[in-house]
Amino acid sequence: MPQSPQISLPLEKLVLKDAKPFNKGGHCLLYAHPACADLVVRVVSPDYVERSSTLLRRKFNRRFGHLVDFQRLASEFIFSHLTPKRPSFLQDFCCFVETDLGLGVVVKAERGKDGNYAPALNTLLKNGTFDDTAAAALERFFVDLLASDIIVGDLRSGNLVLSHDAATGESRFVIVDGLGEKTGIPICSWFRFFNVLAKKRHIRRIRSEISRTAPAV
Ligand SMILES: Nc1ncnc2c1ncn2[C@@H]1O[C@H](COP(=O)(O)OP(=O)(O)OP(=O)(O)O)[C@@H](O)[C@H]1O
Ligand SMILES: [Mg+2]
Repeated sequence: MPQSPQISLPLEKLVLKDAKPFNKGGHCLLYAHPACADLVVRVVSPDYVERSSTLLRRKFNRRFGHLVDFQRLASEFIFSHLTPKRPSFLQDFCCFVETDLGLGVVVKAERGKDGNYAPALNTLLKNGTFDDTAAAALERFFVDLLASDIIVGDLRSGNLVLSHDAATGESRFVIVDGLGEKTGIPICSWFRFFNVLAKKRHIRRIRSEISRTAPAV
């Protein structure tokens, strides 16, 4: 009888609660994948789960609750497979995984030039390292973003990281959070015009943040 190849499936719950997250935002905790340093596991922080369980929030996000961002991310990931060319600003989504902190999203770890986790745009602005290379990468990102039909509900400087590709020596901005439509009535999905308009508004906001914090670049 032919031998089937040995594959290990992620059937067991990942244990994260004793590990230290390498980063955290307002909603999520980010962990290095315990079995693979090239991957990141993102879970909703227990604090946020607690906060989002108020009656009002339950009412608005009735079905997906605190996991609504994961549902939006999955929608854009699926949508990206229908587009002729997958935009380079999308991060590589790997899978969903069960963890001891609830459902986790596994994505590729984005790395900076120094091999550490890629810095977010707001960090570059804060520590004065937003230079000409970063500014040029950001301009390329804006062009690609407007040309694509991907929807970004929450494009902020903390949700963009400057990722470095060691093979090509190129740096590019990658959206690590905020993908998908947030409005109750999905006008950006229905009308391309509104999607472009919303993205232009996000871009204007980021530009004004840059001119406030790094006016020389
Ligand atoms: N795949 C990744 N590779 C490297 N760094 C990442 C990755 N995903 C997230 N990060 C880092 O973690 C930080 C927080 O992540 P994220 O924005 O997903 O958290 P959040 O809680 O959803 O944020 P928010 O406060 O916007 O709700 C990011 O600003 C980024 O620096
Ligand atoms: Mg974020």
